[in-house]
Amino acid sequence: MAILEIKKFNDPVLRKRCESVKKIDRDIKKFVVDIAQTMKKNKGNGLAAPQVGVLKRIIVVQADLENQHILGLINPIILETSRKKKKNIEGCLSFPGIFLKIKRATKIEVEGLDIRGKKIKLEAKGLLARVFQHEIDHLDGILFFKRLNFLQKIKFKLKYPSIY
Ligand code: CO
Repeated sequence: MAILEIKKFNDPVLRKRCESVKKIDRDIKKFVVDIAQTMKKNKGNGLAAPQVGVLKRIIVVQADLENQHILGLINPIILETSRKKKKNIEGCLSFPGIFLKIKRATKIEVEGLDIRGKKIKLEAKGLLARVFQHEIDHLDGILFFKRLNFLQKIKFKLKYPSIY
Protein backbone atom coordinates (compact mmCIF):
# COMPACT_ATOMS: atom_id res chain seq x y z
CA MET A 1 0.00 0.00 0.00
CA ALA A 2 1.05 3.52 -0.69
CA ILE A 3 -0.31 6.97 -0.15
CA LEU A 4 -0.04 8.86 -3.42
CA GLU A 5 0.60 12.53 -4.01
CA ILE A 6 -2.47 14.51 -4.97
CA LYS A 7 -2.01 16.81 -7.95
CA LYS A 8 -3.32 20.29 -7.35
CA PHE A 9 -4.54 23.54 -8.91
CA ASN A 10 -2.73 24.16 -12.18
CA ASP A 11 -1.30 20.72 -12.80
CA PRO A 12 -1.98 19.95 -16.48
CA VAL A 13 -2.67 16.28 -15.68
CA LEU A 14 -5.99 17.39 -14.16
CA ARG A 15 -7.12 18.79 -17.50
CA LYS A 16 -6.53 15.77 -19.69
CA ARG A 17 -8.78 12.99 -20.88
CA CYS A 18 -8.10 9.55 -19.43
CA GLU A 19 -7.73 6.29 -21.32
CA SER A 20 -9.91 3.24 -20.71
CA VAL A 21 -8.39 0.37 -18.78
CA LYS A 22 -7.89 -2.53 -21.19
CA LYS A 23 -6.85 -5.20 -18.75
CA ILE A 24 -7.23 -5.36 -14.99
CA ASP A 25 -3.81 -6.73 -14.06
CA ARG A 26 -1.92 -6.73 -10.77
CA ASP A 27 -0.68 -3.17 -11.26
CA ILE A 28 -4.24 -1.89 -11.74
CA LYS A 29 -5.45 -3.75 -8.66
CA LYS A 30 -2.60 -2.35 -6.60
CA PHE A 31 -3.34 1.11 -7.93
CA VAL A 32 -7.02 0.89 -6.90
CA VAL A 33 -5.94 -0.03 -3.36
CA ASP A 34 -3.43 2.84 -3.29
CA ILE A 35 -5.88 5.45 -4.57
CA ALA A 36 -8.51 4.23 -2.08
CA GLN A 37 -6.00 4.59 0.76
CA THR A 38 -5.03 8.03 -0.53
CA MET A 39 -8.66 9.13 -0.54
CA LYS A 40 -9.17 7.82 2.98
CA LYS A 41 -6.02 9.48 4.30
CA ASN A 42 -7.15 12.81 2.86
CA LYS A 43 -10.73 12.35 4.13
CA GLY A 44 -12.23 12.67 0.67
CA ASN A 45 -15.56 11.35 -0.55
CA GLY A 46 -14.07 10.41 -3.87
CA LEU A 47 -10.89 10.48 -5.90
CA ALA A 48 -10.11 9.98 -9.57
CA ALA A 49 -6.92 8.55 -11.09
CA PRO A 50 -5.79 11.79 -12.83
CA GLN A 51 -5.75 13.45 -9.40
CA VAL A 52 -2.77 11.28 -8.56
CA GLY A 53 -1.25 11.74 -12.01
CA VAL A 54 -2.54 8.56 -13.67
CA LEU A 55 -4.47 9.08 -16.90
CA LYS A 56 -6.66 6.00 -16.62
CA ARG A 57 -10.42 5.73 -16.20
CA ILE A 58 -10.49 4.71 -12.54
CA ILE A 59 -12.35 6.28 -9.62
CA VAL A 60 -12.89 5.49 -5.97
CA VAL A 61 -15.85 6.71 -3.98
CA GLN A 62 -16.90 6.53 -0.39
CA ALA A 63 -19.97 4.44 -1.10
CA ASP A 64 -21.18 4.06 2.46
CA LEU A 65 -20.42 6.83 4.90
CA GLU A 66 -21.28 4.80 7.99
CA ASN A 67 -19.45 1.61 7.14
CA GLN A 68 -16.53 3.35 5.47
CA HIS A 69 -17.03 1.18 2.43
CA ILE A 70 -14.91 2.32 -0.48
CA LEU A 71 -15.93 1.38 -3.98
CA GLY A 72 -13.38 1.25 -6.79
CA LEU A 73 -14.81 1.55 -10.27
CA ILE A 74 -12.95 0.98 -13.52
CA ASN A 75 -14.13 2.48 -16.83
CA PRO A 76 -17.23 3.96 -15.17
CA ILE A 77 -19.99 5.41 -17.28
CA ILE A 78 -23.16 7.20 -16.34
CA LEU A 79 -26.06 5.41 -17.99
CA GLU A 80 -28.80 7.70 -16.82
CA THR A 81 -29.23 10.98 -15.00
CA SER A 82 -32.38 12.29 -13.41
CA ARG A 83 -33.92 15.37 -14.92
CA LYS A 84 -34.15 16.74 -11.42
CA LYS A 85 -31.05 18.67 -10.40
CA LYS A 86 -29.99 20.28 -7.17
CA LYS A 87 -27.36 22.80 -6.15
CA ASN A 88 -25.06 21.93 -3.30
CA ILE A 89 -21.62 22.75 -1.97
CA GLU A 90 -18.77 20.78 -3.49
CA GLY A 91 -15.09 20.59 -2.81
CA CYS A 92 -12.22 18.76 -4.50
CA LEU A 93 -9.00 17.36 -3.02
CA SER A 94 -7.12 18.93 -5.95
CA PHE A 95 -8.46 22.38 -5.02
CA PRO A 96 -8.14 22.62 -1.25
CA GLY A 97 -9.97 25.56 0.25
CA ILE A 98 -12.29 26.07 -2.71
CA PHE A 99 -15.94 25.22 -2.18
CA LEU A 100 -18.51 25.88 -4.87
CA LYS A 101 -22.25 25.51 -5.27
CA ILE A 102 -22.69 23.13 -8.19
CA LYS A 103 -25.87 21.94 -9.82
CA ARG A 104 -25.96 18.18 -10.36
CA ALA A 105 -28.52 15.50 -11.11
CA THR A 106 -30.01 14.14 -7.90
CA LYS A 107 -30.11 10.56 -9.11
CA ILE A 108 -27.95 8.59 -11.53
CA GLU A 109 -27.29 5.11 -12.77
CA VAL A 110 -23.62 4.11 -13.12
CA GLU A 111 -21.94 1.12 -14.67
CA GLY A 112 -18.34 -0.02 -14.46
CA LEU A 113 -16.00 -2.85 -13.56
CA ASP A 114 -14.87 -3.78 -10.08
CA ILE A 115 -11.27 -4.86 -9.44
CA ARG A 116 -12.10 -8.44 -10.33
CA GLY A 117 -13.33 -7.27 -13.71
CA LYS A 118 -16.94 -7.95 -12.86
CA LYS A 119 -19.46 -5.59 -14.38
CA ILE A 120 -21.43 -3.70 -11.79
CA LYS A 121 -24.38 -1.42 -12.19
CA LEU A 122 -25.69 0.77 -9.44
CA GLU A 123 -28.07 3.53 -8.66
CA ALA A 124 -26.98 6.46 -6.57
CA LYS A 125 -28.80 9.46 -5.20
CA GLY A 126 -28.02 12.53 -3.13
CA LEU A 127 -24.41 12.98 -2.06
CA LEU A 128 -23.27 9.72 -3.62
CA ALA A 129 -24.79 10.66 -7.00
CA ARG A 130 -22.98 13.99 -6.74
CA VAL A 131 -19.65 12.33 -5.95
CA PHE A 132 -19.96 9.96 -8.92
CA GLN A 133 -20.68 12.84 -11.30
CA HIS A 134 -17.76 14.86 -9.91
CA GLU A 135 -15.29 11.95 -10.15
CA ILE A 136 -16.38 10.77 -13.60
CA ASP A 137 -16.00 14.37 -14.83
CA HIS A 138 -12.35 14.19 -13.69
CA LEU A 139 -11.78 11.34 -16.17
CA ASP A 140 -12.57 13.74 -19.00
CA GLY A 141 -10.50 16.54 -17.51
CA ILE A 142 -13.64 18.41 -16.47
CA LEU A 143 -13.06 20.20 -13.17
CA PHE A 144 -15.94 21.13 -10.88
CA PHE A 145 -15.79 24.86 -11.57
CA LYS A 146 -16.53 24.10 -15.25
CA ARG A 147 -20.01 23.12 -14.04
CA LEU A 148 -20.74 26.54 -12.59
CA ASN A 149 -23.41 28.58 -14.33
CA PHE A 150 -22.47 31.55 -16.51
CA LEU A 151 -22.52 34.20 -13.77
CA GLN A 152 -20.81 31.99 -11.19
CA LYS A 153 -18.08 31.30 -13.75
CA ILE A 154 -17.39 35.00 -14.24
CA LYS A 155 -17.06 35.45 -10.48
CA PHE A 156 -14.83 32.40 -10.20
CA LYS A 157 -12.53 33.60 -13.00
CA LEU A 158 -12.15 36.97 -11.30
CA LYS A 159 -11.33 35.39 -7.98
CA TYR A 160 -9.02 32.66 -9.30
CA PRO A 161 -7.72 33.87 -12.68
CA SER A 162 -4.82 31.43 -12.70
CA ILE A 163 -6.89 28.34 -12.03
CA TYR A 164 -9.71 28.45 -14.55
CO1 CO B 1 -12.35 16.44 -7.54
